[in-house]
Amino acid sequence: MGFFYSQFFVRPTYPTRSFQGETVLVTGANVGLGLEAARHIVRLGASRVILGVRNVEAGEAAKMEIETSTGRSGVCEVWKVDLASYTSVLAFGDRIAQIPRLDAVILNAALATRTFEFAEGYERTITVNVINTLLLALLILPSLKATRQKVPSVHPCLTFVVSEVHAWADTTEFESGRSDLLKALSDPIKAKMRGRYPMSKLLEVLLVQELAGRVRGSEVMIDMVNPGLCHSQLGREAGVGFMIMKIVLARSTEVGSRTLVHGVSMGLEGHGVYMTDGQLENTALSPFVRSKEGGEVREKLWDELSMILEGVRPGIMENAQ
Ligand SMILES: NC(=O)c1ccc[n+]([C@@H]2O[C@H](COP(=O)([O-])OP(=O)(O)OC[C@H]3O[C@@H](n4cnc5c(N)ncnc54)[C@H](OP(=O)(O)O)[C@@H]3O)[C@@H](O)[C@H]2O)c1
Repeated sequence: MGFFYSQFFVRPTYPTRSFQGETVLVTGANVGLGLEAARHIVRLGASRVILGVRNVEAGEAAKMEIETSTGRSGVCEVWKVDLASYTSVLAFGDRIAQIPRLDAVILNAALATRTFEFAEGYERTITVNVINTLLLALLILPSLKATRQKVPSVHPCLTFVVSEVHAWADTTEFESGRSDLLKALSDPIKAKMRGRYPMSKLLEVLLVQELAGRVRGSEVMIDMVNPGLCHSQLGREAGVGFMIMKIVLARSTEVGSRTLVHGVSMGLEGHGVYMTDGQLENTALSPFVRSKEGGEVREKLWDELSMILEGVRPGIMENAQ
């Protein structure tokens, strides 16, 4: 389905699946799609919802808002995680490893900026949206797998929030002959920051595909969702054109957040799949992602990511199986 058709005519269905008894983690849950997805999950009966946020005060405000609107208190917990920092992600992942069960995770936190800054030696969007999002996924996979073992009736889900703009990425930015693509994208002289957010989402799509290919879907279902263009804080630095496009086309944050809840409601059929409008739709992946060249870039990226993450936490890549 095309972008304009989806924005004008499709409303993802209102989530109704029960989360009774479940523990769910949502990152970037203080505002935007993450906050609304967390609100749905609390409303749908989850026992414990961890709001992973970089600003604890904003997280506490979100928690209060969820409690007031759902009438359910004692469910949400605010945990600090800054995806621009390896130390913070490792501490968060290690804390998650202590909890007795983890049923579903929505890796939603991301940023869109045109300002070049470094975080952990890579351009910040690459670090937050790609490297540390994957690091966090690898840190929490053992908890999801362990929940499958302990509670066989549960099929744990790991959902990544991606975007259709992955198809807008300028793939000529991948310098042929280079195997350190993330490093090359972090060159402050050459980085094309106008297209950086779409590029980060393309990298995420490729790496999630690779991860899902390595992890058994029967253990943990891994998928990715495109929420469509939605009102949120994202793009706060974008120009007037983007703001006008949002006014005309964007879904409400609540409507967009339904797609995140659908992401963590899939069974085995969702494994490795890209969802749009709350439906499985692998054919909506960009021609590049489905091409031979896309496959080659995916392999190089995975090798580079493995090298980076093994440097951050030796042995971590063993979790990707
Ligand atoms: N809105 C759309 O039209 C749209 C379309 C397609 C895909 N998406 C995807 O949807 C997801 C949610 O975006 P949104 O639209 O809800 O945007 P948003 O309102 O800007 O929310 C982004 C969330 O990510 C958090 N975040 C940013 N940098 C972080 C860091 N270093 N560490 C931890 N958390 C960090 C933000 O925290 P702070 O509040 O502290 O900044 C915020 O909670 C993103 O993955 C985005 O790519 C959005």
